[in-house]
Amino acid sequence: MASPTGMRPRGGIVVLDFGSQTTQLIARRIREQQVFSLILPCSTPLEQIRALEPAGLILSGGPSSVYDSDAPSCDPAVLSLGLPVLGICYGLQWTARTLGGEVRPAESREFGPAEMEITADSSALFAGLPARQTIWMSHGDRVIRLPDGFRATGRTPSSLAAIEDPARRVYAVQFHPEVRHTEYGRDILRNFVFEICGARPNWTRASLLSEMTAAIRQEVGGEMAICALSGGVDSAVAATLVHRAIGDRLTNVFVDTGLLRQNEYEETMELLTGRMGLKVAGVRAGDRFLGRLAGVSDPEEKRRRIGNEFVAVFADEARELERTGGRPIRFLVQGTLYPDVIESVSVRGPSAVIKTHHNVGGLPAVMPFELVEPLRDLFKDEVREVGRELGLPEEMLTKHPFPGPGLAVRVLGEVTEEKLRAVRQADAILTEEIRRAGLYEKLWQAFAVLLPARSVGVMGDARSYGLTIAIRAVTSEDAMTADWARLPAEILGRISARIVNETREVSRVVYDISSKPPATIEWE
Ligand code: XMP
Repeated sequence: MASPTGMRPRGGIVVLDFGSQTTQLIARRIREQQVFSLILPCSTPLEQIRALEPAGLILSGGPSSVYDSDAPSCDPAVLSLGLPVLGICYGLQWTARTLGGEVRPAESREFGPAEMEITADSSALFAGLPARQTIWMSHGDRVIRLPDGFRATGRTPSSLAAIEDPARRVYAVQFHPEVRHTEYGRDILRNFVFEICGARPNWTRASLLSEMTAAIRQEVGGEMAICALSGGVDSAVAATLVHRAIGDRLTNVFVDTGLLRQNEYEETMELLTGRMGLKVAGVRAGDRFLGRLAGVSDPEEKRRRIGNEFVAVFADEARELERTGGRPIRFLVQGTLYPDVIESVSVRGPSAVIKTHHNVGGLPAVMPFELVEPLRDLFKDEVREVGRELGLPEEMLTKHPFPGPGLAVRVLGEVTEEKLRAVRQADAILTEEIRRAGLYEKLWQAFAVLLPARSVGVMGDARSYGLTIAIRAVTSEDAMTADWARLPAEILGRISARIVNETREVSRVVYDISSKPPATIEWE
């Protein structure tokens, strides 16, 4: 299904993606200014861009050199649509070259912070900003001859940092205004969006909510819908939103896979049915999942079996609901987010599968539903904002992400009841202590992992040979990269002591100090 068009206000900023790691950040920074921003592959046809009626275009950075044989390119006509354009890094080089300038490999790459001096008397892009500022560079090529009509507006000691042709309303910077290390990056983007493009700040929570509700109503009409809740924020917000639009014609299904955290099934049911008033069919299917996992220790095989079993359980439930409700269910609601749908394949090529993510996204392939994905234009922080506006409690909105296969990927190797009990208890202790220390909201995730290793210890006066728990706590902005959290030693000490004392099977606790990359956040 295409995204409900009502949610894409005209007059936003289209970001054409040349494959940079920070393209998503550009769109987020624009949206933080309450202006809608959409990422499209650089190869998007002109008519499609024009149909969105944007106020301006941004050309992102990218890993290529404009001289590579397969260098990504936009339709050059994007520069003559009459819309203001801001090129960033590769976007600058592509613009300069396309308009007749010259780009060459630099003698040395410029990477990291640099001092920029603004050399033009007045540039709308830098209006109101200091003449010297710290910027963040990451480039190998540089412009050595400007296209006709262009002037340089900023330099670093080693290269051009900003150029523009105000008559054509084409601006370009060699640095990355979207990253936080660029001191006035936010202001530069604000100048572009408001002063140069004349955009209006109409991407607000309230307008978003009413437009989303109207779009869902229009799409679903008088039909029935079903939603698979995971216990996490995204599916809870999607379900609440659709419930607001179509009431009890939405039924939610929440499956207890036996792989959830301590009390998670009961608490989530209570929250969604009690406090949020949603209609939820709870399914206790722990035995089915554990049965399928018996004797399996390969991580990908575990993920595959859990995914398949989930589809089977959900399909059974959907059939039952159709039978008892006496009406067919036509729509499936999913909490898919914008980062999952951005098409940048044309630039980067399909990326290697590191691990198969299981979430309810696998469902439609085997079931005849049409999809409703009300969050597919939103970033995670925007989903939280919408949830807040809908009245979802803070504890749900700030909940750490939890993988679809649940604790099965946090019990390394074969999953058994005994090991699940141990990891569940350790995880509950860890979460309690992290919350008590006021750290929960500061961390992207914090959880316990049960290692497939026993170790010798001494408990009382006797030898023990117990299980090992690893604590994983990370900070991150989007889970693409993550750093291990520098938790205070006293708190780690308290967590370790409590886990060993209160979880009978465990005799050793270790702290994971790997960042992503090269590690991943989860262990399997
Ligand atoms: P990794 O381990 O790949 O995880 O660094 C990145 C983020 O994704 C979460 N994760 C999953 N989420 N289904 C999900 O919905 C999955 O199968 C899955 N596996 C990992 C993980 O918790 C982290 O936030």
